[in-house]
Amino acid sequence: MKVPVRRDTWDLDLAAIEAAITERTRMVIVNSPNNPTGRIYPPETLERLGEILRAASGRNGRAVYLLSDESYSRIVYDGRDFPTPTRFYADSFLIYTYGKTLLTPGTRVGYVALPPEMPEREEMRGALFLSSVANGWQFPNAVALHALPDFEHLSIDIPQLQRRRDKVVPALQEAGYETHSPEGTFYLLVKAPWENDLAFTELLAEQDVFVLPGSLIDSPGYFRVSLTASDEMVERGLPGFAAAMEKAKATTEPPKSEMAGVGTTRTTPSPGPQSGPACFA
Ligand SMILES: Cc1ncc(COP(=O)(O)O)c(C=O)c1O
Repeated sequence: MKVPVRRDTWDLDLAAIEAAITERTRMVIVNSPNNPTGRIYPPETLERLGEILRAASGRNGRAVYLLSDESYSRIVYDGRDFPTPTRFYADSFLIYTYGKTLLTPGTRVGYVALPPEMPEREEMRGALFLSSVANGWQFPNAVALHALPDFEHLSIDIPQLQRRRDKVVPALQEAGYETHSPEGTFYLLVKAPWENDLAFTELLAEQDVFVLPGSLIDSPGYFRVSLTASDEMVERGLPGFAAAMEKAKATTEPPKSEMAGVGTTRTTPSPGPQSGPACFA
C-alpha cells in the first residue's frame, strides 16, 4: 500500500502511515533523501515514525520492520546532515546502492546493513545471506564487491550538482514553474502548468526537452528533472522550459484521450555536441 507524502512540506504523513498499518503489515518502506521530492526527513519525524512502528509491532505481536532506502544518503546539499531512519528504530534494514554516487544505476552493487540493536540480528543476517545466494542475486556482483573500498572514495561531483540546482531552480521559477529546492538527490520535482503531466511533457518534448512525467512515479500533475544533465544541456534546455510554459498558458489543455501517452515512439534528431535534445529524465 502506498501512502502519499504531505504536499505542503513533502514530509512523511505520519497520521496516514499510522492509519495504513494493519495486523497484516510486515514492513514499512521509507526513502530518504527522497526520489523525487529531494526531501530529507527530519529527526523529529523519524523519532515519531519509530514510536508508531514500535506501537504497531506491540499490537501485532511481531515486528513491523522498517526498510530504509538510503540510495541518495551521500547526495545532500548545503552541508546538511542526513539522519538515517534506522537510528530511531531497531528492527530496520538499511539498504544502500553505489549506483547513485557512481552514476551506475541497475548494477546492484551495494549493501544491506542491520542496526547493532536489532533483535535476532544474527538470524536475520543468515536469512539474508541464504536468500540472496539461493536467488542468485549475489553472484554477478561478487567480484565487484572486492572493489567496495575503492568505490567508497569515488563520487559524482556534488558541489557541481548543487551549483546546477541553484541555477535551474530559480530559472524555472522565473519561467513561471512551481518548484522547491531539494535538500538531497539529483532531482527536482516541478508542478506541471497543466493537470495532465503527460500532455505537458509532450509539449516540453516539442522543445527538445525531455523529462520524466510525474504520473510514472506516483506524482501526477508534476514532472521530474534530473540534474545529471550536463551544464551545456541545461543552457540549451532552459529556453525550452520557458517556451513550453508560454505555450501551455496560450493553449487549452488537451483531454486525456487525445494524448500520445506512455510508450509512444518518438524520433528525435541525433544530438550533436552543441545541438539536439536536452535530456533531464
Ligand atoms: C530511491 C531509489 N532506490 C533504489 C534505486 C535503485 O538503485 P540501483 O539502480 O542502484 O539498483 C533507485 C534508482 O533510481 C532509487 O531512486
